[in-house]
Amino acid sequence: MVKLRIKDVEFSYGSNPVLEGVSFDVNDGEILGIIGPNGAGKSTLLRCMNRILKVRKGVIMIDGRNISDFSRIELARIMGYVPQSTHQIFPNTVFDTILMGRRPHLGWKCGEIDIKKVLETIEMLNIVDLAMRDITELSGGQQQKVFIARALAQEPEVLILDEPTSNLDIKHQLEVMNIISKIVKERGITAVMAVHDLNLASRYVDRIIMMHAGKIFAVGNPSDVLTEENIRKVYGVEAIVGEHDGRPFILPIRPADTGTHDS
Ligand SMILES: Nc1ncnc2c1ncn2[C@@H]1O[C@H](COP(=O)(O)OP(=O)(O)OP(=O)(O)O)[C@@H](O)[C@H]1O
Ligand SMILES: [Mg+2]
Repeated sequence: MVKLRIKDVEFSYGSNPVLEGVSFDVNDGEILGIIGPNGAGKSTLLRCMNRILKVRKGVIMIDGRNISDFSRIELARIMGYVPQSTHQIFPNTVFDTILMGRRPHLGWKCGEIDIKKVLETIEMLNIVDLAMRDITELSGGQQQKVFIARALAQEPEVLILDEPTSNLDIKHQLEVMNIISKIVKERGITAVMAVHDLNLASRYVDRIIMMHAGKIFAVGNPSDVLTEENIRKVYGVEAIVGEHDGRPFILPIRPADTGTHDS
């Protein structure tokens, strides 16, 4: 079933067009990866999807309903969002930071169920030893795990993640992607994530959208999209694409001499 529908979306910052003619669907139980070079419009698209930004044209729908018709609280209950970078981190314990993910579900106080969900998420993400530490005193990767935990504790139907593993070491990248993948499949929710690491995208996402200069350049399963030709055209990089476990893996070699890439 289609959960999320993005149709003919356009967005500009002032007079600078950033997204043009962007259309795609994401189904229940599906992880969609968004890849593309710096400045391609990935974060802008995710921010339009959670209504931080308002699209200039086109519509974004959840379960067939335009997101502009949702109230703030309705949207917050349905959609979890982990931004690319969190500039403002307020001093607070890890536990309380994750508990804030439950806020859209809370009445005037938090109940046993909310505490239970937070504890479960803390255990799932293997951050029990961090639970009572202050978040401002954690490493970048530890903080990133906490923000992912906060979004998961929220139990959203749609999970939007902007480069969720960018600060994580390789073991924690795999750990976090496994957790996200398991939750998406078990709960039948929908996840959309921007990701720079093509190998990680290849391994974990069901479908990939490759963006270039605000437009969708290619869409399909990892083998369709992650080709040497597409990588050369979009990133301006010569790469060798091999295969492991039925999924492509990418070895970037050098900047290409020609291509349609910016810069
Ligand atoms: N707040 C803003 N005001 C004006 N222009 C912006 C703003 N945020 C982003 N842009 C511009 O919009 C374009 C797309 O930016 P966006 O952040 O969506 O790219 P991205 O694909 O997420 O890149 P990255 O891989 O570096 O995160 C860029 O040219 C960027 O300079
Ligand atoms: Mg970005």
